[in-house]
Amino acid sequence: MYGLDNVKFICGDALNPKVIEQIPAVDVVFSDPFRPAEENERRVSSLEPGIPNVLSAYGEKTGNFAFEAPPQMPPERIPFDCEKEYISLDGQLNRLTLYFGWLKQYDRLAVALPADEGLVPKDGPLPQIRETEKMKLCAYEPEPSVVAAGLLPELVESMIQLVGPIMGSFELFKVDKKRLLLTSDALMKQSMIKNHYLVLRVCPFEPKEINKFLKGRNVGSVVLRAGVKPEDYWEVRNEVEKGLEGNKTVHLFVKGGTAILCEILFKD
Ligand SMILES: C[S@@+](CC[C@H](N)C(=O)[O-])C[C@H]1O[C@@H](n2cnc3c(N)ncnc32)[C@H](O)[C@@H]1O
Repeated sequence: MYGLDNVKFICGDALNPKVIEQIPAVDVVFSDPFRPAEENERRVSSLEPGIPNVLSAYGEKTGNFAFEAPPQMPPERIPFDCEKEYISLDGQLNRLTLYFGWLKQYDRLAVALPADEGLVPKDGPLPQIRETEKMKLCAYEPEPSVVAAGLLPELVESMIQLVGPIMGSFELFKVDKKRLLLTSDALMKQSMIKNHYLVLRVCPFEPKEINKFLKGRNVGSVVLRAGVKPEDYWEVRNEVEKGLEGNKTVHLFVKGGTAILCEILFKD
C-alpha cells in the first residue's frame, strides 16, 4: 500500500529463539502486546509477550524499545525505567506508550491530540492543590492524560504562571470518582485544559428548576456530566433542555444532590 520494499513479516512467537535469531541489530523494537479484553485493574504482568521478556530477548539487538500499554495504568504501577507517555485524543484518554533507552526523554509526559500539546514533570517546588467543596467563578477540566500521568501539580503551576500568584489560587473539586475540576476566580486559557467553564449556578439538582433558570439565557443544549442512571438519562436531559433554543452549551455536573451549571467557554 505504501510502496515499501524493506518490510519483512515474520509470523511466529516473538520469544522463540528461532524468531529472535532472524532479527538483526536494529534501531528500535516496537511491541504492541496482547492485553485481556477486560480486567478489574490493568497491570503490566497481564501483557503478552511480557515487557521484561521482550527486553531480555532483544537486549542484544537494541537498547531502544517502545511498548503500547493500557492507559488506565497509573505511573506507579509501571515498574520500569522508561518514559510513560499518556495521550488523550479529542478529550478522551486513548494511549499509553512506554519508551526505553534513547527513546526515553522524560519520566512522564501528557499529550493532547489533535492539538499536539504536551506537559512534562517539573523539578523544584510545585503548588499544593487543596481540595474544596465550594466552586469559585471558573472551573477547568484537565485533559485526562494530565490526570493519568500524575501531572496535575505541573498543570496548576503553569496556570498560576499565566494569571499571576495573586489571582492564581486553584483548588480541586472532585465531582465523583471519575470527574475532577480545578476551580478558581481567575479566568484564563491553558492548552492542557479540555474544557474551560464559567460557573453559572450552584443549586439543588432539580431538573425543572434548572430548566427555568436556563430559559432566557441563550442556552441551547445541556451536557449531562453526572452519574445519572442510564435509564433516567433521557428523562433528565429532556426536562432540563425543554424549550431551550439558544446557542450556548451548558455542562451540568452533579455532586451529592447539588447541581453545578457551567457555561463552556472558548468553544471552537
Ligand atoms: C494488541 S494486538 C497487536 C495488534 C497490531 N498492532 C495491529 O495493529 O494489528 C496483540 C497481538 O500480539 C500477539 N501476541 C501475543 N503474544 C505473542 C508472542 N509471544 N509473539 C508474537 N505475538 C504475540 C497476539 O496474538 C495479538 O495478535
